[in-house]
Amino acid sequence: MNNSWNTHYHYFDQKKHPPAATLCNAIALSRKTQISQQDKLAIDLGCGNGVDTFALLQDKWNVLAIDKQNEALLRIKENTPDTYKEQLRLSLNSFENIEELPNCQLINATFSLPFCHPDHFGKLWNIITSSITKKGIFSGHFFGINDSWNSNLEMTFHTQKQITELFSRFDIEYCNEIEKQGKTISGKEKYWHVFHIVAQKK
Ligand SMILES: C[S@@+](CC[C@H](N)C(=O)[O-])C[C@H]1O[C@@H](n2cnc3c(N)ncnc32)[C@H](O)[C@@H]1O
Repeated sequence: MNNSWNTHYHYFDQKKHPPAATLCNAIALSRKTQISQQDKLAIDLGCGNGVDTFALLQDKWNVLAIDKQNEALLRIKENTPDTYKEQLRLSLNSFENIEELPNCQLINATFSLPFCHPDHFGKLWNIITSSITKKGIFSGHFFGINDSWNSNLEMTFHTQKQITELFSRFDIEYCNEIEKQGKTISGKEKYWHVFHIVAQKK
C-alpha cells in the first residue's frame, strides 16, 4: 500500500485538488462557534500531502497533521510556506498506534479513517471523540458496507446505524451517504459507498 499512497499523492499534486467540501463546511461552522485564536487547534488525521492541512493553516488554525507515511509529511514540510511553519506540527504515526490526542476544536479525517484496521477502530474513535472539546467539530468520511473494497479485512466499513451510533455525542450538521460507480484518484474503476459527515460535539 505504501507505493500506492505515493501514487495517490502524485495525482493529488498534479490535479491541484481543492480542500474537502466537508472540511470547508466544518470551517464555516467553526466561524459561528466562538473559538479564541489561542485555542484554535485542529488535527488532520491521515493528512496525505496536506490539501486540507493547508486550508486549515490559511484559516489561522494551529494544525497537528498525522499520517503513517513519511512521504506525505515530507511533502507537507517542503510545501509549507515559512509564514505557516509555527502553526504546524507533523506527526508520523498510524491510527492503530495512536494512544492519545490533545484537546482540540476540530478533527478532520478526509478519506482516511476507513484505512484504520477494524480491530483498532473502536479505540481510535474513543480517542477522537474524547479529544474534541464541547462544541468542537468533526469532519470526514467513512466507507459504507457496499463499497467495492469491502472484502479488505484491514479496512473499516460502517452501516448507517453504526454511523448514527458513532455520533451519539454529536449533533450531525451534515450527512450525505453516496453510492456510485466511479474511479479512484489514479483512474481505477471502483464502486464507492461513502458517508460524508460534519458533526458538532454537544
Ligand atoms: C485517501 S488518502 C487521503 C489523504 C488526505 N486526507 C486527502 O484528503 O488528501 C488516505 C491517507 O491516510 C493515510 N493512512 C492510511 N492508513 C493509515 C493508518 N492506518 N494510519 C495513519 N494514516 C493512514 C495514508 O497514508 C494517506 O495519506
